[in-house]
Amino acid sequence: MMSLRILSLAVSAGLTLMATSVQAQGQGRMADLGKREFEKSCASCHGMDARGSGVVTPWLKKSPPDLTLLSKNNGGIFPADRVYKSISGEDSPAHGSREMPVWGQVYRMSAAEYYMDHPYNDEAIVRARILSLLEYINRMQKPR
Ligand code: HEC
Repeated sequence: MMSLRILSLAVSAGLTLMATSVQAQGQGRMADLGKREFEKSCASCHGMDARGSGVVTPWLKKSPPDLTLLSKNNGGIFPADRVYKSISGEDSPAHGSREMPVWGQVYRMSAAEYYMDHPYNDEAIVRARILSLLEYINRMQKPR
């Protein structure tokens, strides 16, 4: 009788453990939108570690900057406004070339494809996607 109780306790403890770890994993995947987007869209050039050594760099004219040093090179302050604008493409010169894709446009187009003729707010969608990247890049900063 005793051993049965211990067994059922152990089983329920095990189930709780399993449930929490599944939950934690799920939450991790769901929550880290910035990381997921970075690895999908940016790592090919900037590298998985954001340090500028992505697999396609040999074919680029300009090497992608090390994105972990943005704060360090800016007096210890994360240059959020500049980073936002270089991702959105607002900093893009009217003439001349830019090797990095204009993500504001990319995200606007993918929202249009996704929502089709349903009403949606494209500015808000683009901003949310850029802000999640900004938050992730901020987290990747090297200490000063
Ligand atoms: C095709 C290669 C490529 C891809 C993909 C790419 N970048 Fe870049 N990125 C560059 C290059 C090259 C530069 C240097 C400036 C330039 O030539 O446009 C740059 C510059 C930047 C800068 C400016 C850094 C500064 O000093 O202000 C940021 C921020 C940045 N990239 C973030 C991203 C993010 C976020 C993504 C993914 C959504 C991304 N990049 C995808 C190539 C790329």
